[in-house]
Amino acid sequence: MKKAVLTIHPDKKLSHIAPELYGQFSEHLGRCIYDGVFVGESSDIPNTNGMRNDVVDALRALHLPVLRWPGGCFADEYHWKDGIGPKKNRRKIVNTNWGGTVEDNSFGTHEFMELCRQIGCEPYIAVNLGSGTIQEAADWIEYMTAKDTSTLAELRKKNGQKEPWKVRYIGIGNENWGCGGSMNAGYYANEYKRYQQFCKEYSGNTLYKIACGPNADDYCWTKELMSQINHWHANGISLHYYTIPGGSFEEKGSATDFTEKEYYATILQTLRIEDIINGHLRIMDKFDPEHTIDLVVDEWGTWYDVEPGTNPGFLYQQNTMRDAIVAALNLNIFNKHSARISMANIAQVVNVLQAMILTERAQIIKTPTYEVFYMYKDHQNATLVESSIDTLSTGCGGITVPALSESVSISEAADSPDADGLQKLTITVANASLAEDTEIEICLPENTQFFGEAGISLLHEEVHSYNTFGQPEKVKAAVRKETWNGGRQMLKLPACSICKVSCTINI
Ligand code: AHR
Repeated sequence: MKKAVLTIHPDKKLSHIAPELYGQFSEHLGRCIYDGVFVGESSDIPNTNGMRNDVVDALRALHLPVLRWPGGCFADEYHWKDGIGPKKNRRKIVNTNWGGTVEDNSFGTHEFMELCRQIGCEPYIAVNLGSGTIQEAADWIEYMTAKDTSTLAELRKKNGQKEPWKVRYIGIGNENWGCGGSMNAGYYANEYKRYQQFCKEYSGNTLYKIACGPNADDYCWTKELMSQINHWHANGISLHYYTIPGGSFEEKGSATDFTEKEYYATILQTLRIEDIINGHLRIMDKFDPEHTIDLVVDEWGTWYDVEPGTNPGFLYQQNTMRDAIVAALNLNIFNKHSARISMANIAQVVNVLQAMILTERAQIIKTPTYEVFYMYKDHQNATLVESSIDTLSTGCGGITVPALSESVSISEAADSPDADGLQKLTITVANASLAEDTEIEICLPENTQFFGEAGISLLHEEVHSYNTFGQPEKVKAAVRKETWNGGRQMLKLPACSICKVSCTINI
């Protein structure tokens, strides 16, 4: 068994971990909205106001903080007025991006806000810059957030929502370098500035405006955008980065049937995100040394070939232990950059790409990625502390990657009966090696001690394992308790596993 040391400095507090780093994304794509979250009130699948109870319950349990909608590429074709008012009058459109299906707009603004209400999360609205108008975007914000008696506020009331909604997060356009209009950065920056000017704050609602940032390592986009905007225009710029095992859309590969080399290639592609984040932050720092504009990773996750026999435009893929490792690595990286990343949204929440949940009629399964989000939820709102772990390497066929990844946060141990002076430590560690079990020695500084009971969740299965409707809990974290006292503890991490420790320390 390999040995490694995890050193933690709970006294070196680094940054607040925004709960929004654990955000999600829901698009009118395949079976994400329809079937996935929304089945309609008349469905025999148990629902509340049309939302699947099982899916809502599962997402509430994750403490899902924020949900992005309606796209994605769909956002730049979406005309919000199509999705309000009596359903029978709603316009039917062709979803040209995703499978050419007919979108009947039965899930619109009111339904999305109802979904967020049931989950208890904040809405993040992506407005249409690509094929919409400034007037349309401005009207949507007025419709959602204005109080008084403007015609649009009255229309909202007539459609059933008396009080204005609180809408903080507004994305202006999506991938405008691609499906959102094939623009160059200079052209987009101008358009963005015009649009954001007319996104007004009504009735005490404050907006957090997000400009469309780069695709992966397109540093030129970031440079041009940042040279044209400042914190009066934008609170954040987005970054999209998908883990594609072969590195290109022609080489995605199967979600479940992959070789050891493809597995390590997936890990390598995942870890690229850290260099990409640092590259964009360096550029942002030059234009914005005061850090008034944040980075928002509002699309990330794995992208494979669709499941055989499913509509290629629906992006439905299975989710194995490989995805769990990918999720754990990304989340550790986001935690470590929480000083500059204000939000991240995995793509997507149900039935699309690296989903939390897969549905089949009345059944759902929670994926291995869901398990990771469940384990990591304790980092939300905590404070990142300094930590480091030995960089043992692993890999095969010429690919070498670090085996271990970690992040550690601290928060008040409020639930302890004798909480005075005690702090709760949350440690998340992933072992990406498929071959080597590792024993980790966890070390605290002198005079700092573990104190009492530690809760340990371990997610560990063979890398190709996944949950099915016949066997929904094959991949599920095992939870145990141990008594941890003193300044050092040992933790065994089998190959291909993820572990979370919740423990108490006194400093
Ligand atoms: O998440 C699927 C698609 O990926 C989104 O619609 C688009 O923004 C990205 O290219």
